[in-house]
Amino acid sequence: MKIRKPFVAVIGAGQVGATAAQRILEKGLSDVVLFDVVQGMPQGKALDLMESAPIEGHDKRIVGTNEYKDVAGAEIVVVTAGLPRKPGMTREDLLSLNAKIIKEVCLNIKQYAPDSKVMVVTNPLDLMTYLAFKTTGFNPERVFGMAGVLDTARMRYFIAERLETRPGEVNAVVLGGHGDLMVPVSSHSTFKNKPVKELIPSQELAQIEQRTRDGGAEVVALLKTGSAFYAPASSVAEMVKPLLSDEKKTLPVCAYLNGEYGIQDIYFGVPAELGKKGVERVVTISLTADEKKALELSAHKVKQGIEELKSLGLL
Ligand code: APR
Repeated sequence: MKIRKPFVAVIGAGQVGATAAQRILEKGLSDVVLFDVVQGMPQGKALDLMESAPIEGHDKRIVGTNEYKDVAGAEIVVVTAGLPRKPGMTREDLLSLNAKIIKEVCLNIKQYAPDSKVMVVTNPLDLMTYLAFKTTGFNPERVFGMAGVLDTARMRYFIAERLETRPGEVNAVVLGGHGDLMVPVSSHSTFKNKPVKELIPSQELAQIEQRTRDGGAEVVALLKTGSAFYAPASSVAEMVKPLLSDEKKTLPVCAYLNGEYGIQDIYFGVPAELGKKGVERVVTISLTADEKKALELSAHKVKQGIEELKSLGLL
């Protein structure tokens, strides 16, 4: 079956990639090209997904491929290629292994899909997104990472669980690097527009913030053989929506900072307006002194990672 434009290419047909493809198809967002280096695997998953289309009732198409030429013409390239975290492994342990994969993938994106927008999902996220920006040489508005939608979704769920309410009724804000130093911003988190600080005692809120920081590790420890993929895949699809349509939407995005929040030349989790051009505007919100301090610490950690990438000769 022929793929129709605008379509999304997903690089890496593993747990996150294949589930993201499924979400994109079943939400009726676009056709999908699913790429992986493993022979037959993306083709098999694509066929399986097409065979569920009559039941799911959508009219979207997916093809699996091992050839980068099939990615040509993609509106968005979602990069999930890489190794997932194993129990006990930090996101940073993945650094050099995944950096080599991201470099190879991004050189191919640059060659075959030079006009695309690139959404990085592979961890350690802030560093892999920076590496994708440097490797493709694309304008920073066209290169960004998915983490904040996931981190805030986790926090929204934890707050909803505590309030015994629908997760969709809770809003939360998480800023900073997608790691142990991410900054859940309770001062901007709300339930039906009421600050959660007025609804949940501060000690319990602190526990929710910590559970949010540990959200990925909690799933890894339970699964034992991989990392989270359902919520990451939902988060990818949530970002794809405004990137494909004319409807702009502010979402938490790993975006390039050029002085916003007093931070220069790193990719970092901030609220940003997404639209057809990619990251169209970084949104700044007011922060308490403690939140600002926590954000500086997180930015420092990301900068250290960039230095590590440089010392490994990967940047
Ligand atoms: N090019 C393309 N695909 C590759 C390459 C490469 N050079 N190297 C590995 N892959 C593919 C693997 O073949 C595998 O199918 O990437 C896929 C990764 O899938 P999983 O191992 O299932 O990992 P997943 O759980 O999907 O996580 C992928 O997303 O959330 C992050 O931390 C997670 O960095 C990890 C990434």
